[in-house]
Amino acid sequence: MIAADHSYLDNAVLPSGDSPELVLVPASLEERIAALKLNSPAWKGPLDLDAYITRENHLAQQSLTKDGLITWLLVVQGQPEGERTILSSCETYKKKAVLVQNGKVEYVPALSIGSVFCRPEFRGKGYAKRMIQELVMKMDMEPKATNKVPFSLLYSDIGKKFYAQFGWKPYPSAHFSLPPVPKDAYDRAIVRSDLPTARTLVADDVRRFMCSADVVQKELEILRAASQRSPSAKVGVIPDFDHFKWHWAREEYYAELLFKDKAPPLIKGAGDDQSRVYCAWNRNFGETPEESTLYILRWVYDEPTSSEETEKTAQAMATIIRRAQLEAYEWNMAKVQFWNPTSVMERAVAILDPTAQIVHREQDSVACLRWHGAEQDKEVEWFWNEKYAWC
Ligand SMILES: CC(C)(COP(=O)(O)OP(=O)(O)OC[C@H]1O[C@@H](n2cnc3c(N)ncnc32)[C@H](O)[C@@H]1OP(=O)(O)O)[C@@H](O)C(=O)NCCC(=O)NCCS
Repeated sequence: MIAADHSYLDNAVLPSGDSPELVLVPASLEERIAALKLNSPAWKGPLDLDAYITRENHLAQQSLTKDGLITWLLVVQGQPEGERTILSSCETYKKKAVLVQNGKVEYVPALSIGSVFCRPEFRGKGYAKRMIQELVMKMDMEPKATNKVPFSLLYSDIGKKFYAQFGWKPYPSAHFSLPPVPKDAYDRAIVRSDLPTARTLVADDVRRFMCSADVVQKELEILRAASQRSPSAKVGVIPDFDHFKWHWAREEYYAELLFKDKAPPLIKGAGDDQSRVYCAWNRNFGETPEESTLYILRWVYDEPTSSEETEKTAQAMATIIRRAQLEAYEWNMAKVQFWNPTSVMERAVAILDPTAQIVHREQDSVACLRWHGAEQDKEVEWFWNEKYAWC
């Protein structure tokens, strides 16, 4: 397939991005692999090409993605399948989501867009733009037919402007970034600060403490109550166990390849049973340890209702963050990050490091949401805008 791409590049004049000849098509199995080969320099990180393709195939088999993943290609109409030149490519995933309005909770599918790519020699010709335009047209037709996909989301690594022109509005994209902490410093800090010790969570604990029907119902009740107080649509990707499993499939794949002598990464988060504060994390392995990050994918806790409760919750969070910092150290990672901290989380970080500053991302991983619902100018609030929903 790649050979066909290159011969086309040598022998033909490429159409412009606004040419009526261009169409967006779902990739065949072979074309999906060809698209992965093309985009591998952007996203393979420390893996070689084969390991990158195996990673992508492994992730595509996870319960989160196996039924709703489509690779889209921008191609010239009329080229036979298998010989089509890939001008640009991207992926869409279907996610389970909720839409809450006027006190009514609806379970809806949402679309997540990722891996938007144009190979270097074709860039600047308007292919990525055209691909996204075509995708938007397909998405906008779908709700009219089924009234089912009310919003889509993506995480832009190219700032806020490119996707805004197609209707994806940037949403809060802030995080704390904290350094790893070695064991002796961790022990000293816990003793000195008189903080409780966090318990570690394995996958099944995350399922029990963070994904149970009770937890989900409690969160939905918060959205429902909020929707009775304000007219905006409240949406969120359901933070189900499948999301965590997807992230862990990724980290376990890397760990097996890159840390052959180390025990597998079984600790998937930390918590405090007394305060009922829990978080789940994953290890994201970059090209170098400096680029490796332990992400807290999601927090679960009861919103405090008094200043004493706030302090207690913040203390529990502080000890959990410390535990995450120790985990980052043990996996040779450069930092711990968590997204869109609430005021209690800010307090927790201040307990650990009063000088730590929130970072507002302008360029990378900018959370963007596009509303496809009936009312065009509807105000839309994105709940649970945390790292777990990223893919
Ligand atoms: C980003 C990318 C898909 C753009 O492809 P392309 O076909 O060259 O894009 P187009 O020609 O359709 O559009 C060009 C527009 O995108 C903007 N753009 C391209 N790369 C950009 C970047 N890294 N940061 C910000 N804007 C960028 C250009 O400034 C231009 O804007 P203009 O229309 O206002 O002049 C391509 O550069 C790429 O594959 N990069 C590597 C992978 C990547 O980062 N993907 C984005 C993931 S969110």
